[in-house]
Amino acid sequence: MKWLHFNLLFRPQPVAGEGQSHGPLPDRPGAQLTGRRFLTALPLSMITVREGDTAVDVCCGSGDLAFLLSEKVGISGKVIALDFSKEQLQIAATRQSAQSKACYKNIEWIEGDAADLPFPRSSFDAATIGYGLRNIVDRRKAMEEMYKVLKPGSKVSILDFNKSTSSLNSFCSGDWMIDYIVVPIASGYTLADEYQYLKSSIKKYLTGKELEQLAREVGFSEAKFYEIGAGLMGNLVATR
Ligand SMILES: C[S@@+](CC[C@H](N)C(=O)[O-])C[C@H]1O[C@@H](n2cnc3c(N)ncnc32)[C@H](O)[C@@H]1O
Repeated sequence: MKWLHFNLLFRPQPVAGEGQSHGPLPDRPGAQLTGRRFLTALPLSMITVREGDTAVDVCCGSGDLAFLLSEKVGISGKVIALDFSKEQLQIAATRQSAQSKACYKNIEWIEGDAADLPFPRSSFDAATIGYGLRNIVDRRKAMEEMYKVLKPGSKVSILDFNKSTSSLNSFCSGDWMIDYIVVPIASGYTLADEYQYLKSSIKKYLTGKELEQLAREVGFSEAKFYEIGAGLMGNLVATR
């Protein structure tokens, strides 16, 4: 149940020195990615990110995806991680200082709006958004901004809950799962309101097909949506 709790609320993983033997991400090469960590790594596994690249993580929150991007681009690369929450950025920066990995120094935390990215056109080799697009009010503008700041031929990878259209998946993931499993558990943690928000935000989100269409409408040359975890999650990959 803890897994569900952490994955749905996206609480930051404890950093070294906070009761865990390792940091928010595996410190040891080959360390296993499980649960939340597996999901965090997923958007990166669907696009090519090379050493030396400049990448952006939009709606970075406390930085899980940015830390993984940082490991991929290495010390010769650069990661810009953007969020409009000062508080989240502060948590991310604190986690960065608590880590000893040299590459994490390549992350710069920027306070900004996903719908008005403060970067020049064609700045990035790759872009990611984890559980962010669903929460953005003007998603079209955010997609336009993403298109603008990517270099031609580069990709954005967008992970979130899947607003499924299949009746089987709606049964498993959408209403049934949240009403009969997630909310009762959350109530025990006095977190029911947050899960109710999750449910309503998934309802207001776009289906995979709608995400593909939006990406093409704003100019991406290719857009493909992948259902993950029996349709509970979904990842859109779009190529500028
Ligand atoms: C559910 S959290 C996800 C954080 C992180 N990507 C992760 O996977 O843990 C969503 C984040 O999106 C940010 N956010 C929502 N709308 C935004 C916007 N328009 N511009 C920048 N950040 C935004 C919130 O502040 C929050 O940190």
